[in-house]
Amino acid sequence: MPGGRRPSQHTESRKRAASRARTCATVVHQQFRLVLETGKPADRILAAFFRQNRKFGSTDRRLISALYFAVFRWWGWLQQILPDPTRPIDPHSPTGLAVLYGACLLDDVPAKSILPIWRDELKQGYDLPKDAPQRADSLAQSAKSLCRFFRLVPDSLQPRSLLPEWIWHNLPAISNLARLLAFCQPRPPLWLRAQGGSREALVTDLQAHGFKPQISDTVDAALALRDARPNLYEVPEFTDGRFEVQDLASQVIGLVCAAERKQRWWDACAGAGGKSLQLASMMANTGTVVATEIREYKLLALKKRSRRSRLHNIRTRPWKGRAIPVQAANFDGVLVDAPCTCSGIWRRSPDARWTTPPDEVARISELQADILQRAAAGVRPGGCLVYSTCSLCTGENEAVVTQLLEAESAFTLEPTPHPLTGEATDGMIRVWPYDADCDGVFVARLRRAP
Ligand SMILES: C[S@@+](CC[C@H](N)C(=O)[O-])C[C@H]1O[C@@H](n2cnc3c(N)ncnc32)[C@H](O)[C@@H]1O
Repeated sequence: MPGGRRPSQHTESRKRAASRARTCATVVHQQFRLVLETGKPADRILAAFFRQNRKFGSTDRRLISALYFAVFRWWGWLQQILPDPTRPIDPHSPTGLAVLYGACLLDDVPAKSILPIWRDELKQGYDLPKDAPQRADSLAQSAKSLCRFFRLVPDSLQPRSLLPEWIWHNLPAISNLARLLAFCQPRPPLWLRAQGGSREALVTDLQAHGFKPQISDTVDAALALRDARPNLYEVPEFTDGRFEVQDLASQVIGLVCAAERKQRWWDACAGAGGKSLQLASMMANTGTVVATEIREYKLLALKKRSRRSRLHNIRTRPWKGRAIPVQAANFDGVLVDAPCTCSGIWRRSPDARWTTPPDEVARISELQADILQRAAAGVRPGGCLVYSTCSLCTGENEAVVTQLLEAESAFTLEPTPHPLTGEATDGMIRVWPYDADCDGVFVARLRRAP
């Protein structure tokens, strides 16, 4: 058989693909269900699965991971294929396979080897295309194909059902919901923040490793990677602390702080220190950033990161209990980057759309208001207070700041230009994913009377 494969070879590779398709369907459906049942983050659930099942090679891991996240990203539509989405799905039933095939149709899943297997199995029940499915350019086209292939009622897939219904009652009156949705579906770029040297030199050095960074035209230190690979964390530019991974919208929060050399800042909810590092870097290793956090293990990560970045002006301290862990009225600036629903980062963690309880905004906004009011005591007279979240919801943002302004007459909003658009704001700033292909965040800048 010149140029062709012998039948036995063909049968063998078909057998391998069928086995891979079967394993992939089982793993994705089982781990998906585990996330919905436990509410635990999808990335941690899958990482734990791979730790316990070491037989999976890198190709299988990549395939399973891409498919699993695609199902979360498009679950608002894919669940319509099922007779009862609340019931566990048999991974190998026609509807179970249709969910996976639909995810491949909608998303960029490297599933070339197994799609023909699923297509053959599904042909009996569905009107699938003969050739490999083509990805559509718009949400409307995607919805149309899905309805046609899986015999759904035409127009039953509305863009708004890609996000949970409760979010629509919690957004401010913004004009561009269609754009918000269009930006919620594609995979976002990975944003880096250059530090301790020129961004241009960093770009050149990353290019030498085969990356294709794109610089932001609005935020000086920011650069985006659309081709990020795991080895990013091994390149000397990372191990030498020449960049941190930090979304562009998160960098905007640091810019609104506008920390200056020799100042004293308190980063009250520092986590693993993304913004502490940015503030410390803005202050060019002078002054002090006191980073506090309720979860002490996160401070260990921050210490490691500050060593790598050679930033010596960060002090870490756990914040346990109600009393503030710093001296009152002692800081030029206090940043409260509060715990939140994280609805602004649903592009990156699509599972959270379906695991966040509808009453979470009400619950967490009480905690946010409480942390903000306590942390405000750290601001010196004449100093500034910055409040931020990565939530899209009014109840966690404007409402929390308004509550603080009503309770603490010494604070007023400080009019501030929007760091991305330059537009004047009253001090409350929204960054939407469509502003710069980034997360959605809220940030407010307040001033304490002298
Ligand atoms: C949005 S994250 C902070 C992210 C961090 N600023 C960064 O840039 O990487 C909010 C942090 O608040 C912490 N937190 C949660 N509840 C808290 C509480 N009651 N008091 C203080 N911090 C809390 C969480 O552990 C979490 O690390």
